[in-house]
Amino acid sequence: MEKFVSNWFSVQSLPETYVFPPDKRPEKLSVPLCKTIPVIDLGKVVDHDRSDTVQQILNASQEFGFFQVINHGVSENIIDDAVSLFKEFFNMQDEDKPSVYSEDCRFFTSSLNYANEEFHLWRDVLRHPCHPFEEWMKIWPEKPTRYREVVRTYSAEVRELSQRILQMICEGLGLQPGYFRDELTKSQKLSVNHYPPRPDPSLTLGLHKHCDPNLITILHQGDVYGLQVFKDGQWIGIEPLPNAFVVNIGYQLQVISNGKLRSVEHRAVTNSKEVRTSITTFITPSEDSVIEPAEDLVSECNPPLYRAFQYKEFFSTYTACNGDTETALEPYKLRV
Ligand code: OGA
Ligand code: NI
Repeated sequence: MEKFVSNWFSVQSLPETYVFPPDKRPEKLSVPLCKTIPVIDLGKVVDHDRSDTVQQILNASQEFGFFQVINHGVSENIIDDAVSLFKEFFNMQDEDKPSVYSEDCRFFTSSLNYANEEFHLWRDVLRHPCHPFEEWMKIWPEKPTRYREVVRTYSAEVRELSQRILQMICEGLGLQPGYFRDELTKSQKLSVNHYPPRPDPSLTLGLHKHCDPNLITILHQGDVYGLQVFKDGQWIGIEPLPNAFVVNIGYQLQVISNGKLRSVEHRAVTNSKEVRTSITTFITPSEDSVIEPAEDLVSECNPPLYRAFQYKEFFSTYTACNGDTETALEPYKLRV
């Protein structure tokens, strides 16, 4: 069998290692598509509406841990370029896309833990760091030939958007301006998930339930449905909106906000008809940065819920527990 699902999905019957046990399967694929996950219009951030937008972002981050943004300032052209670039990438012949470009730039199926995982995920992934691009660009794929140029522009524009959103979160939380600049957003990773169609999608999962380990995530899911969020005891689907980005709170923002903003479980389901490609940007602290509840958000009546830790410490325990949402934050919780 070929390694990458995108190479054999249409010709093979489903191997057992891809069949999730019933309690982990997406029991209902057609969960309600949620129109209640807030869609926030960033085009309205002119002076008098700014505080209203800030409040919407804060409310959504508290209640859902997720929101979508429209009129976000990332140009439609560059989004279209990125979408068509990745389509071309995943359609290339295998010899044009090696699995290891370098230690930090990988093309893999399911997860980097493929050899040890019990069930494989129905996806192929291209992942690499993208900021600062001068440092990383040389390890990015060279094919398709416009790869570096397109990804560089796309990543820079999404970075700029992430900084604007973080600045508004900063205002909403009452932190000093620029709190998230520098170390807390030093790194940026691009992870492109490619989920081929599957005749029996209810047996498989594209991505199992998890919360993101980083600070904040900006995801372009295009026009094919597949992302589900856990809310009030049930899975709800995030409606694909053309040209919107889905934004979600990572574990580090939950800790820094002392639990005020929530990092919420989500997963990706596959479908029987169309390939789905999501372009994910993870905004991530530097390895050595110290993460702790912001001083301004703790007090005697609001004691810290988490101890201080270095991001690399968190990342290694997160990886060791395989992102398990029950245990990922356990080593860092303070009993109050
Ligand atoms: C992720 C993620 C969702 C999707 O990559 O962390 O949650 O829709 N992706 O691909
Ligand atoms: Ni995620």
